[in-house]
Amino acid sequence: MELALYAPGLGYYSAGSVKIGVGGDFVTAPEVSDLFNRCVARQCAEILTVTGGEILELGAGTGRMAAVVLSALAAQGVLPERYAILEVSADLAARQRARLAQLPPQLRERVVWLERLPESPLRGVMLANEVADALPCRRFAWRDGAVRELGVALGEEVSFREQSAAADVPLLRACEGVLASLEGELPQGYASEVCLRVEPWIASLSECLQRGVLLLCDYGLPRRHYYHRERVSGTLRCHFKQRAHADPYINVGVQDITAWVDFTRIAEAALAANLTVSGFATQAAFLLASGLEGFVAEADEGAQRARLAGEARRLVLPDEMGEAFKFMALTRDYDAPLSGFALQDLRHLL
Ligand SMILES: C[S@@+](CC[C@H](N)C(=O)[O-])C[C@H]1O[C@@H](n2cnc3c(N)ncnc32)[C@H](O)[C@@H]1O
Repeated sequence: MELALYAPGLGYYSAGSVKIGVGGDFVTAPEVSDLFNRCVARQCAEILTVTGGEILELGAGTGRMAAVVLSALAAQGVLPERYAILEVSADLAARQRARLAQLPPQLRERVVWLERLPESPLRGVMLANEVADALPCRRFAWRDGAVRELGVALGEEVSFREQSAAADVPLLRACEGVLASLEGELPQGYASEVCLRVEPWIASLSECLQRGVLLLCDYGLPRRHYYHRERVSGTLRCHFKQRAHADPYINVGVQDITAWVDFTRIAEAALAANLTVSGFATQAAFLLASGLEGFVAEADEGAQRARLAGEARRLVLPDEMGEAFKFMALTRDYDAPLSGFALQDLRHLL
């Protein structure tokens, strides 16, 4: 997964395919509707009013969310000192530059691209929409009462296939943690994923946060739902030309590979890194608490409002994006309200 996504010049995020949006492989919430981006902006405004400082967006995709957030913050008079973007994909960074170059000069001059996380810790907001699901994960299977790792072997000619092997110590430890949180044994042949990158990723982000909020949004579940006995083949999914499927051994380097996020693992990693888990809500609850309906209602009657109402439904309906996607707020030295989480607090589920 690491090589298929990130190998220099060859990996999905390193090479030049369109990836996001119409003509790409998948569509994310910031591309579905600017309603999503305006709600995120409202949460950012509330935080920046308390902390001052800047926004750091990880994996900014096409740059659409950055553009809308900056414009909305300008309208509210709470512009960040700068809007930094950390993007691993050179061609997505180029798309971001082209898009953000269209902003008025007083906004676009605040945008900077970073090669790595900042050395001095920042005050403000860190944003990561659909980034955690792109962290390479490891797959395991439960066979004859033991954990096996599911890895990659060469198939015939130039192809790849799945092969199982003994699990190494880090994977075994992670799986022991998973098994301990479940009631009863897993069914024979059960397969799933664990993302061991979560801990170092959250720790490195924590080191960069002096005061403020890390706002994550992704598809995922608390652990005991994630590893439900009936989810027998895990959550690994591939996206290729707007179709989702479960075969990571085809289209290698030209399709996205993702896995759902175990939000309990994120919360544990945050606590270990001295962050506070201050909010956890479904996307629907977060957007509704952030004024989604008001944004639709204030649109001109007629075609524009009907279009926005359709987009809003896609963002919040439970069988669309509303339930599968969650928002999580990890904070440091931040006791002020987080209005996006006012309607729902799922922290007890973690
Ligand atoms: C699924 S896309 C989401 C893009 C955008 N946030 C959106 O919602 O439209 C994943 C993004 O994360 C970037 N990315 C992947 N791994 C990353 C990492 N370790 N650090 C920062 N960005 C990363 C990708 O290049 C891409 O921009």
